[in-house]
Amino acid sequence: MCDKLKKIKTAIFISGRGSNMNALIEKSRNKMFPASVDLILSNNSKAEGLLLENANNIKSYFFSKNEFEILAQKILLEEKIELICLAGFIQILSKKFIQNWQNRLINIHPSYLPNFKGLNAQKQAILAKATYSGCTVHYVSSKIDGGEIILQKKVYLSDNEDFESLSKKILKEEHILYPKALEITVNKILNNII
Ligand code: GRF
Repeated sequence: MCDKLKKIKTAIFISGRGSNMNALIEKSRNKMFPASVDLILSNNSKAEGLLLENANNIKSYFFSKNEFEILAQKILLEEKIELICLAGFIQILSKKFIQNWQNRLINIHPSYLPNFKGLNAQKQAILAKATYSGCTVHYVSSKIDGGEIILQKKVYLSDNEDFESLSKKILKEEHILYPKALEITVNKILNNII
């Protein structure tokens, strides 16, 4: 008889569409995946992600931006969450919050960091006539999009690439990259590497 795998309890913070959240939930439902998604927090009451079918059976809360950190911290502790994934979460977290969750807070960014940090990363890549951009999963530090990189993937731009086509290509890779990066992060925690 084999014991049921004990999964790391994970929360996902979103502000909008939630397609990366959806990809993480799907993967986490695999028996062998080492993380479960137990909590969804949004700072936008209208986030489409909150309405996705996959979010149905997961505890979800909306907290306004002003109160977000305090209320989030409370529920994260109550729910014994061990790791947070930011997935399209639009709010700059305080140094204190980031420190509290050091090595337990990860984010996905739509560029091949350190290129094109900040907002509109896809637009930045188009304007720069870059040959490639991509996506990156990284630990969150107080430097915006500057924390240690966990995993990244290049996406090459074609000659007639525009914002929409590049965003679509990158997003497709994000949905593959984020679950992989989450698995790597969890295994580091389980092996006491971080
Ligand atoms: C993604 O492109 C992600 O890299 C960025 O915000 C977007 C969120 O998309 N941080 P979604 O809400 O996961 O669909």
